[in-house]
Amino acid sequence: MSEKLKVGILGATGMVGQRFISLLENHPWFQVVTVAASPRSAGKTYQEAVGGRWKMDTPMPEAVKDLIVMNVNEVEKVASTVDFVFSAVDMTKEEIKAIEEEYAKTETPVVSNNSAHRWTPDVPMVIPEINPEHFEVIKHQKERLGTKRGFIAVKPNCSIQSYAPVLTAWKEFEPYEVVATTYQAISGAGKTFKDWPEMEHNIIPYIGGEEEKSEKEPLRIWGTIQNGEIVPAKEPVITCQCVRVPILNGHTAAVFVKFRKKPTKEQLVNALREFKGIPQELQLPSAPKQFIQYLEEDNRPQVTADVDFEHGMGVSVGRLREDTVYDWKFIGLSHNTVRGAAGGAVLCAETLKAKGYIQAK
Ligand SMILES: NC(=O)c1ccc[n+]([C@@H]2O[C@H](COP(=O)([O-])OP(=O)(O)OC[C@H]3O[C@@H](n4cnc5c(N)ncnc54)[C@H](OP(=O)(O)O)[C@@H]3O)[C@@H](O)[C@H]2O)c1
Repeated sequence: MSEKLKVGILGATGMVGQRFISLLENHPWFQVVTVAASPRSAGKTYQEAVGGRWKMDTPMPEAVKDLIVMNVNEVEKVASTVDFVFSAVDMTKEEIKAIEEEYAKTETPVVSNNSAHRWTPDVPMVIPEINPEHFEVIKHQKERLGTKRGFIAVKPNCSIQSYAPVLTAWKEFEPYEVVATTYQAISGAGKTFKDWPEMEHNIIPYIGGEEEKSEKEPLRIWGTIQNGEIVPAKEPVITCQCVRVPILNGHTAAVFVKFRKKPTKEQLVNALREFKGIPQELQLPSAPKQFIQYLEEDNRPQVTADVDFEHGMGVSVGRLREDTVYDWKFIGLSHNTVRGAAGGAVLCAETLKAKGYIQAK
């Protein structure tokens, strides 16, 4: 590819924005040319605006340090500099909904990390290995917005990435009832231990809005397009408890499943190891080669050992065993700010580019 697509990051100074900046350093298809944040940061260099808030393990890429931060709210001005944007702003849901639509209407595709549009009926919410066909709903969204190339696509919540891919790999066995408990890292709240010291040695049994997202979003991912809208699937029903734990990165899930066609352990493990989708077939730049790994050791997956599997883009599963009440139970683990946030959005954008939805303006 000779020319890279020009990318803007809305909310570039925040935790997810920083993850986008890190993941896109040296990206073969996309180049960050614009960083935008609140009016508090606008006009400063990226380095000045972020100041001591840089939260990544790797240093801030040289190429962005001297970019002048733009104001997210100056939509036309930001949009005129880029081919598409990633959205990771933290505003109210209504404000995010409105501003993402404003960007789309400037003919700038928006690939969003935010939850604001996850239930807008003609906005696709995609995990590219699972439901890339949902991008077809974009043509109906463009009709509504009156755009030719502008649209919004979103990725789902970080909490579901440790079990929704697993249940998808087992679809042929017809899972119909699922109980999940998630053990979620503090970076999912945009925090480190420095900003949230009371999380050290602590567990908090509440994450606002998370249980509903964890129960309902997988059903939308498994839904179908009917009359220009995504209609969620009805099964498997999921009930979930979400718990904040003293971990920096990595959401773990303990999951129980009932199946209509109860499989053997060998069938389940093989289905996980063989599961792949468009990102693997097209060898997209951020695609994990192995999407789901199964670990045989009784003490895996562990956050410290496994969270970075496939550069944080893969899912690790272990402890698959028969249950006395449900059919099977397992533990899943995924990286919440990579696969669960910025990395999942970058993979969506790569899929959209490969399918011709995102091009140079
Ligand atoms: N952390 C995660 O793992 C995760 C996962 C999934 C989804 N999310 C969602 O992603 C979004 C960003 O999360 P985060 O953790 O990165 O938050 P964050 O660290 O607080 O960053 C928020 C970003 O939004 C900008 N911003 C805040 N108020 C603004 C305003 N009024 N106008 C324009 N820009 C504004 C900030 O700019 P300034 O620096 O100038 O204030 C900053 O760039 C949130 O909606 C969050 O719910 C987060």
